[in-house]
Amino acid sequence: MAAESGEKWILTVTAQTPTNIAVIKYWGKRDEDLILPINDSISVTLDPDHLCTTTSVAVSPAFSHDRMWLNGKEVSLSGGRFQNCLRELRSRASDFEDEKKGIKITKKDWEKLNVHIVSYNNFPTAAGLASSAAGLACLVFSLAKLMNVKEDHSKLSAIARQGSGSACRSLYGGFVKWIMGKEENGSDSIAVQLADEKHWDDLVIIIAVVSSRQKETSSTSGMRDTVETSALIKHRAQEVVPKRIVEMEEAIQKRDFPSFARLACSDSNQFHAVCLDTLPPIFYMNDTSHKIISCVEKWNRHEGSPQVAYTFDAGPNAVLISHNRKAATLLLQRLLYYFPPQSDTDLDSYVIGDKTILKDAGIHELKDIEALAPPPETKENTSTQRHKGDVSYFICTRPGRGPIVLTDESRSLINPETGFPK
Ligand code: DP6
Repeated sequence: MAAESGEKWILTVTAQTPTNIAVIKYWGKRDEDLILPINDSISVTLDPDHLCTTTSVAVSPAFSHDRMWLNGKEVSLSGGRFQNCLRELRSRASDFEDEKKGIKITKKDWEKLNVHIVSYNNFPTAAGLASSAAGLACLVFSLAKLMNVKEDHSKLSAIARQGSGSACRSLYGGFVKWIMGKEENGSDSIAVQLADEKHWDDLVIIIAVVSSRQKETSSTSGMRDTVETSALIKHRAQEVVPKRIVEMEEAIQKRDFPSFARLACSDSNQFHAVCLDTLPPIFYMNDTSHKIISCVEKWNRHEGSPQVAYTFDAGPNAVLISHNRKAATLLLQRLLYYFPPQSDTDLDSYVIGDKTILKDAGIHELKDIEALAPPPETKENTSTQRHKGDVSYFICTRPGRGPIVLTDESRSLINPETGFPK
């Protein structure tokens, strides 16, 4: 048997998993341990080239206990959520054999074998972007591959859900629905793909990473307080979201941008309204977030039909979804007009991700930003004030694919000889 002591082999798998942004929000649980939500939610998966988690996992009889390193630092795996995911995965592990390497692991061996998990985000964690969604989804996906778990992505999503609710939607690319389910054991609370990323590939996404000094309330405790104290949340979960889910699915199916934008903006606003209705009230958006909303609302109204949708999660960062490239170019010009970089910032680090949109916007150097004219929808009598330094940087991206296994050994984060982070 492979798990006998004295054996030195190490088996590894590396995977990459995207992050996702909800356009119909998950906020509120009916079961805290199993992470079962009070409503369905819908998200767009973001291109992993710009925002993703890479995770390498390894198993070896030489490992003394389960260990994890995140962005270069060892983190504890003792939390209930990690333990629930590990237990669920081990119980579904299958026999594995690699004759060439002389590795044979039976289903029973997985109960005793320990794993090392090394995970990295390709975006700054401090930015307050949904790193837990990509992180937990990647942990579950890579361990499922390592342990030869023969379950489809929906079943894996139910495991990732127990790590962090929003993580279940990162098991698929494109447009994803998390079905709340009815069962007490959570078996039907799973994610399903509504459409893949190619279905609506005109969409361009610009994220404004908003500078913030405020310590934010975690989603987990924030939504607990909302469920306990808000009267509005019941109305939202029972009356509003069920209708919006149907409408949003139809908007995605038909690539109907005006409906998509109306629903996404209203749902983000209602999520922040239930936060305000919580005791004590929770403020995730700040002045800059509000300024971004008003810039978008003004422009959409001026055009007569929505050019861009905004949505905000549990923090001040704006996720702006544009109808197409043309609209994204015009949006970026507006954003850079209102939110120019500090004088000591270089353009290359101020707009990251797909920089071709910057070129289309005619911005090649910092002085091009300074020379931008006020957008035509700015009324002469209103302020055309520019807010230097309110935005840390922008990320240009698009809807993207689901998780993949990286077969190229050089992408592994684990040293294949030692089983420790490289
Ligand atoms: C505002 O998934 O982070 O991003 O399930 O407690 O881990 P837990 O919470 P989490 O909540 C995400 C909330 C949200 C909306 C959303 O992604 O749907």
